[in-house]
Amino acid sequence: MRLPAVAGALGLAASLAAAIPTISTKGSKFFTSEGDQWFIKGTINSVPGIAYQLVPDDPLIDNDQCQRDASLMQELGANAIRVYHVDPNVNHDSCMSTFEEAGIYLFLDLDTFDTQIEQNNPHWNESQVERFSAVMDAFHTYDNLAGFFVGNEVITMSNGSASAVFIKAAIRDMKAYRDSRSYRQIPIGYSAADISSIRPMLQNYLACGSNASEALDFFALNAYEWCGNTTYRESGYSHLTQMLIDIDYPLPIFFSETGCNTIRPRTFADQAAILGPEMTPYWSGALVYEWIQEMNNYGLISYGPQVEATASGAPPDGFTRSGTPTPVLPDFTNLQSQWATLSPEGVRVDQYSPTLTPPPCPEATPGQWEVDGDVALPTIGQVLDAAGRSSIGGVTGAATGSQAGASPTGAAVRREVKGGMAGLVGVAAGVVALL
Ligand SMILES: *[C@@H]1O[C@H](CO)[C@@H](O)[C@H](O)[C@H]1NC(C)=O
Ligand SMILES: *[C@@H]1O[C@H](CO)[C@@H](O)[C@H](O)[C@H]1NC(C)=O
Ligand SMILES: *[C@@H]1O[C@H](CO)[C@@H](O)[C@H](O)[C@H]1NC(C)=O
Ligand SMILES: *[C@@H]1O[C@H](CO)[C@@H](O)[C@H](O)[C@H]1NC(C)=O
Repeated sequence: MRLPAVAGALGLAASLAAAIPTISTKGSKFFTSEGDQWFIKGTINSVPGIAYQLVPDDPLIDNDQCQRDASLMQELGANAIRVYHVDPNVNHDSCMSTFEEAGIYLFLDLDTFDTQIEQNNPHWNESQVERFSAVMDAFHTYDNLAGFFVGNEVITMSNGSASAVFIKAAIRDMKAYRDSRSYRQIPIGYSAADISSIRPMLQNYLACGSNASEALDFFALNAYEWCGNTTYRESGYSHLTQMLIDIDYPLPIFFSETGCNTIRPRTFADQAAILGPEMTPYWSGALVYEWIQEMNNYGLISYGPQVEATASGAPPDGFTRSGTPTPVLPDFTNLQSQWATLSPEGVRVDQYSPTLTPPPCPEATPGQWEVDGDVALPTIGQVLDAAGRSSIGGVTGAATGSQAGASPTGAAVRREVKGGMAGLVGVAAGVVALL
């Protein structure tokens, strides 16, 4: 049908106005540019998100695939995905607009495989700044970009806490870069492994200090504590929440990975807690790990049966990484039913005037937390040699190096590239709840 010119123009204006609202933070909450509090499961977009990394390099290039997946994610009820690695040098317009049209936001890690901050011999140098900046340059224009992470599970061992100063240096420099380019106030956060011995020090440290330019915009936790039919109290979630209440945590916080798989089928009962009345005053939702079924057995969908990994032309690990997504049952429908019943009510931004202050910077605790208070952050290029240790101050010597709280990705995504995806099963089996 031919529309009169005026109606056509109005239609265009309406479709521009209907662009997805952008996300920013205020106090301890996320808000949309329309003023609604946003839950990763939201008021306008009613559901939480999913970890989405089909291929190690970049899952946001093949728009046919993005369309097939976005459409099923909409049925599942997701309003956000998380992607761990992208190639900043290719075009992502099609996939990003496909997800935008499906009402799905993106949380994106800024690091590439060879630039992530490491807990052993940590450093933060010019090459890392350049790569992180390139990813920010490539994605900042997308309205459905909800936030960036400067790292995923940099610290996985209890003796890695000194590297927190490098994480904070990355936050400082990426926020400064965002602002120097006059990009919108895209929230910049960190995604932590759930390590009991450095809770709540890490989340407080990254938020602490008098200079907001050096603090996180949001904190996120990869937590696999809730397995099967446990409860808010027994799972440890009440404990996680209490640590926020105790300090009046000033930033938004959410689960950047969740979805324990040690009890099957997965019922995702934790979603009712995370998006329910006990937690929504303090938490902003959850990203479920993960979209694709692969060796670690966390998938919500699969693209076909596993094939012999050693056969010629076999996909990595024998798991096809594209095609028509087929729900893994009953997990997929279990999650779908949880999300369908959950619609947390938030506050309107104009009715929210928090008086929050940063928490005190934690003091060093021998054998546990190695950064003593509000120390000067490393400069670009600094490393953690003796001089580095002394200049960040108060480091108290080696903590024990026990493996703690490692989740499927922290280890797995890294291993995919560095070690050819070996050991994912062991990683998944090693997931432990630490209270
Ligand atoms: C940064 O550190 C990495 C890893 O050690 C190194 O390969 C790279 O050359 C360094 N970049 C600069 C500018 O020093
Ligand atoms: C806050 O931190 C930024 C980034 O490190 C720095 O440029 C600025 O001078 C600091 N402000 C104050 C008041 O110290
Ligand atoms: C978990 O609860 C559901 C619903 O009450 C029940 O059907 C299921 O058998 C329970 N699973 C276990 C492992 O207890
Ligand atoms: C932490 O401990 C592990 C083994 O327990 C060791 O391999 C690693 O080098 C230690 N890291 C640091 C930063 O001391």
